[in-house]
Parts: sequence; C-alpha cells; structure tokens
Amino acid sequence: KKLVWLDCDPGADDAMAIFLAAYSDKIQLLGISTVHGNSSIEKVTNNALKVLKMGGIQGIPVYRGLEQAIVRRDKINIQFHGESGIDGCVLPDTEQEAIEDDVFHKIYHTLKNQSQKVHFVATGAYSNLAILLTIYPDIKNYIEQISLMGGSVFLGNQTPAAEFNIMSDPEAAQIVFQSGLRVTLVPIDLTHKVGVTQEIIQKIELYKSEFGKNVIGFLTYYMGRYKQRYGWDYAPLHDPVSVFYIINPDAFSTKFRNVEIDTVSPLCLGRTVVDEYSVTGRQPNCYVACEINKELFWQEMLSALDQANKN
Ligand code: BDR
Ligand code: CA
Repeated sequence: KKLVWLDCDPGADDAMAIFLAAYSDKIQLLGISTVHGNSSIEKVTNNALKVLKMGGIQGIPVYRGLEQAIVRRDKINIQFHGESGIDGCVLPDTEQEAIEDDVFHKIYHTLKNQSQKVHFVATGAYSNLAILLTIYPDIKNYIEQISLMGGSVFLGNQTPAAEFNIMSDPEAAQIVFQSGLRVTLVPIDLTHKVGVTQEIIQKIELYKSEFGKNVIGFLTYYMGRYKQRYGWDYAPLHDPVSVFYIINPDAFSTKFRNVEIDTVSPLCLGRTVVDEYSVTGRQPNCYVACEINKELFWQEMLSALDQANKN
C-alpha cells in the first residue's frame, strides 16, 4: 500500500477526500493535518475529527495546522461550504481530540519514521506544507510525491485569475512548486468535470442510514451553493480527485509543465501561471492533470462510501 498524508480544510469535498483516503485498499492513511481555508482552523479541525467519526474511521491522528497564510492577512471570501465549513448536516460528536502541540515536528517525524516514502496530498491552502518544507528541508527525502488540489490553467474561481486554495496562500504555493519534489496539480479545469449529480445522490439514498443522511445533507447543501452561484445542476467534487491520483495515476492524463505562482500582481495574484507552450525557458516542475477516467473515479469513491456506511 502507498502511504499517504492528507492535509485538508474540511469542507464538503475534503470530507469526501477523507473517506476515499481512509477506505481505499491501495493506500494507507497515516494522518491528517488541517489548515485554514473553508472555515476557521477551529472549525475545520473539528470537522475533520467528526468526519472520521461519521465514517467509522479509527486510529487516524488529526493535527491542527496553521490558522492563517504564511505572509498575508487578507480576508478570503468563502463561497461554497457554509458557516461551519460543512453545512447541511449535523456531524456526530467525537471523543477524539486534535494534536495541537509541536505539530510540525511531529508530522516531520511521522514521515521520517516510515519504511517507505510518503505521498503528500494537500486539498486546502498549502501553508502547512510550505512550513514543513522550509523548517525541515530534509523532509523531501521522505516524500515520494505531492498531489495538490488547486489552481487553474484557464480561469480562477476565487478571482478571475486565481483558484481558492492558491489564493488562500499564494506564497506557500510558490514554495511548494519550487520545492523540486515531484508535484502533480489537479486544477479546477479538471475537477469541474467531476461533479456530484442527483444520480450520485440517489445511489447514496439507498443506504438509508444516518451516515447516508449526513452525506446527502452536506452534498445537497454544497450542490445548492453551486446552483446559486453558477446555475449548475451538479457540484464539482474537487478534493477526492487529488487522492484518487495517488490511488490510480494511470486513470489520468497529465502534461509536464513549468508552473509558477503570481505573488505580486494585484490583478492576477494567486494565478497558477502554466507555461503551456514552453515560452519562458523555465524548467517543467509540475505534472498538470488534464483528463480523468471518471468511471474509475466514481467506482473507487462509491466503494469507499459503501465501506464507510458499513462501519
Ligand atoms: C477548493 O476550494 C475549496 O472550497 C474546496 O474544498 C477545494 O479544495 C476548490 O477550489
Ligand atoms: Ca479543500
């Protein structure tokens, strides 16, 4: 099994990423760290703990990460997940507590002490990852690759130029892209094609369980936000796609390109600048995911939900 670390900001789609990472038989989830993003760090950390409980997932430590971007203090407008970060259902209480002390040191040691290199998946702002790479540069020896949900080759969803996770901490993103590690970017250009539809909701309805009710609750809320904002009848399930890249990279087509983050322009701050036509002379540093076999994705995602429902 591939060892996976998941850094996230739950978030409806982050919750689905947690279910996928915990229940895929191709990977072993070592731990979760949380980061500011879809709600405050307190709320997303609580959500991560409750999502584990909801899915009957035991033995996965949750580390509370950074409450803000590493440089900027701008307020980011949160559009899709509601006040709690996962609106639309009542998540179950849990006795599990998050680890709050010495978090980066502990994550570093967890990665270092494995018998194989770890696949690092980030589905929120990349602030935690940037700090880890900065204060423990040799952590690179223990990371096999990084799979990032975020960015946009074409147009942003937070500003016309920038996607939400990157806009939430552009400097952190730039550190990650310049790390020299193998980085794969799963941008919104791709995740907008992987949508939760009524057909998926109907499959989950068959569970007739508390778990199913809660998943439908938060997915329906999330779909409602997309309907309201964009008029879409489906909601993109961004974050699990970057977990699925670790599970089955062959289900994707990618292009190896140079990607840099705009950290200076007021108009295009946070843009993932992808050198599609190799005009800059800069070395490629990122596999940009372009296409996905959606059928294989949904098979894996629904099978993870089935298992979470049984637990
Ligand atoms: C990203 O932003 C968040 O709202 C989602 O959880 C996802 O990680 C998509 O732009
Ligand atoms: Ca997210």
